[in-house]
Amino acid sequence: MTIPNSIAIDGPASSGKSTIGVRLAERLGYLFFDTGIMYRAVTLAVIRAGIGVDDEEGVTQLAHRVHIDVRPPTVADGRKEDVLLDGEDVTWAIREPEVEKRVSKISAYAGVRRAMTELQRRIGKRGRVVMVGRDIGTVVMPDADLKIFLDASLEERARRRFRELIQRGEAVRFEDVLAGLKQRDQIDSSREIAPLKPADDAVILNTDGLSVEEVLKRVFELCKDCGDD
Ligand code: DC
Repeated sequence: MTIPNSIAIDGPASSGKSTIGVRLAERLGYLFFDTGIMYRAVTLAVIRAGIGVDDEEGVTQLAHRVHIDVRPPTVADGRKEDVLLDGEDVTWAIREPEVEKRVSKISAYAGVRRAMTELQRRIGKRGRVVMVGRDIGTVVMPDADLKIFLDASLEERARRRFRELIQRGEAVRFEDVLAGLKQRDQIDSSREIAPLKPADDAVILNTDGLSVEEVLKRVFELCKDCGDD
């Protein structure tokens, strides 16, 4: 039995991709790479530079200029990684509602995607990686050895996200979390380039009503199965 060398996990916002991806990567001793943080970091840079989200050219130019880096966590505050934007730690800043509101629009721009996809492919080619996002199985790593599409109903995802935000001490309303997710789903799945959708050869896992441990068990099984020749 051979363990898959490259694993793609895609799915909508708050479907559990990162939680599952991190645990899987830990178990295999692979790199965990969350591609969403790149689009979030570009969005933060755009806001800070005072560029309008509708200014596609300005946004694209900035996406090519910024330097985004990820390294293992250096602070034990619940983070899965340190995210650096031009050398500054922006791990939590990229999770702020102001970023969340704009990230789907910015990640739909062709030039932004080109810049981000190129870097992601380079990382993917090294192998021993669990990469998560929206278009990993379809565009970034179409040859991944194992492709998983994690899904869950909008309500279940909103409940998870709401809990997460409350635990972090954010003052949010459930209805707003739900509406925000719905809007991002809509933009992410209807965009022209690399829309959110399962690859033809992806295993679709619906996680409604399943605990993290239950999903992990299923994912570990898939990992073994896909290596069987
Ligand atoms: O996974 P996330 O919520 O952190 O992703 C933030 C946004 O980035 C998401 O709304 C769409 C975009 N994204 C993308 O377009 N392609 C990816 N591979 C990952 C994220």
